[in-house]
Order: sequence, then C-alpha cells, then structure tokens
Amino acid sequence: MAKFKGNPTVAHLAVDKHHDYGIGQIHFGRWLQVWFATITDLFEGENADKAKEAARRMAHTQFMVLWYQKPDSVKGKTA
Ligand code: HEM
Repeated sequence: MAKFKGNPTVAHLAVDKHHDYGIGQIHFGRWLQVWFATITDLFEGENADKAKEAARRMAHTQFMVLWYQKPDSVKGKTA
C-alpha cells in the first residue's frame, strides 16, 4: 500500500500563521462534520468507524499544536 509522506502539522502551522492565527476549533469542527457526512454516505462498518475516530483524534491534536504556536494575545480568542 502507498505510504502517506505529507506533514499535516507543518501545513496547518503555516496556514494558521498566514491567517493571523485565526484557525479555531470551529474550523476543525466543520472539517469533522464534512468528513463524517462523507464517510456515512459512502461506507459502513468497522473501517468507517475507525476513519471517523482517527479524524476525531487528529482534529484534537492538530488544534492543540496550533494553539501552542499562537501568540498569547490571540490564545483563547479564536472560536
Ligand atoms: C481533522 C482535521 C484535519 C485533517 C485530518 C487534515 C489533514 C490534512 C492533511 C493530511 C494535509 C496534507 C499535508 C501534506 O500533504 O503535507 C492537510 C493540509 C492542509 N490542511 Fe488540513 N486537515 C484538517 C483540518 C484542516 C483545517 C481545519 C484547515 C483550515 C481551516 C486545514 C487546512 C489545510 C491546508 C490549507 C492544507 C495545505 C494544502 C496544500 O498544501 O495544498 N486543514 N490537511
């Protein structure tokens, strides 16, 4: 199976900085809604559940990584 070689953390840190540290939990929440809806439409079963759970974990950790990078002045101010 092909192995993923990208780095979402590096990508997301750059995007958040570019947008004045404006990426918040609301954006990850929206991302998860779209992901869950797509998985639910197309798949079912154990792997579908795993795909949802993996995204939920990733949204959490990716948001935390962004949060630690944010300047103190914006921490807690993004939704
Ligand atoms: C759980 C939620 C998310 C997951 C699993 C996810 C996953 C990924 C992955 C795997 C990449 C590719 C990294 C690479 O190839 O090096 C990526 C890139 C990116 N993500 Fe996310 N992402 C999530 C949420 C978000 C959110 C909330 C935003 C913006 C508000 C966002 C914006 C971007 C952008 C702009 C890129 C770079 C695309 C490019 O280089 O062409 N992502 N993401």
